Amino acid sequence: MSPKQRVGEACIQHLKSGMVVGLGTGSTADFFLQSLATAIKSGQLTDIKGIPTSRKSEQRAIHLGIPLTTLAECPLIDVTIDGADEIAPGLKLVKGLGGALLREKVVAQNSRKMIVIADAGKESAMLGTKSPLPVEVVQFAHEASARYLQSLGCEPSLRKNADGSIFITDNGNYTYDCRFANGIADPEALQGKVLDRAGIVDTGLFLGIASLALIADDAAVRERAG
Ligand code: A5P
Repeated sequence: MSPKQRVGEACIQHLKSGMVVGLGTGSTADFFLQSLATAIKSGQLTDIKGIPTSRKSEQRAIHLGIPLTTLAECPLIDVTIDGADEIAPGLKLVKGLGGALLREKVVAQNSRKMIVIADAGKESAMLGTKSPLPVEVVQFAHEASARYLQSLGCEPSLRKNADGSIFITDNGNYTYDCRFANGIADPEALQGKVLDRAGIVDTGLFLGIASLALIADDAAVRERAG
């Protein structure tokens, strides 16, 4: 069993019947969705309602038979379980390589608790040393947003699909993947500067949001608190 599958199954222990659950996006979260569907079908978990973090996870949940609700109907989510692209000390995260950072952050910030599930390869001493930082921007004057991001010390690259067309998020925006040559020394300061600019919607920096990480390697799953 791969570490992603192992942690996607292990996180089910953190759920209880009757919970409203935020459904993450990505290959690790997909193992979680499969395990959740199995637990619902077997009767191990009852009266679960999911809130997806992307159209992709919504489609997967529907396909797997996971009952869904919305933040309009259920304003407070009990727990959100989602993957990450990088996990630094303090459970500071980079997310969004899967293209869903904005809805992922909205869902996580409206949850009592966010649990990150990942393989050990996602851990790093400093954010930005393993992953570029995805930044979602409006299409209007996106080149100006890119120039602003570059002025903050990174190399922004407009995300494209495999066929060369520009990747468009579920919210109709573009994404710049920003490489910081020496990592992101002060993620809080960077987040403040980036969000200060009109046209930039949000970044994949998740700071002070996750409270627990489940990290899997080839042998086991360990817990890491924030
Ligand atoms: C989706 O936008 C991302 O935030 C994912 O959570 C992240 O990319 C992790 O994906 P994998 O589990 O596929 O590595």
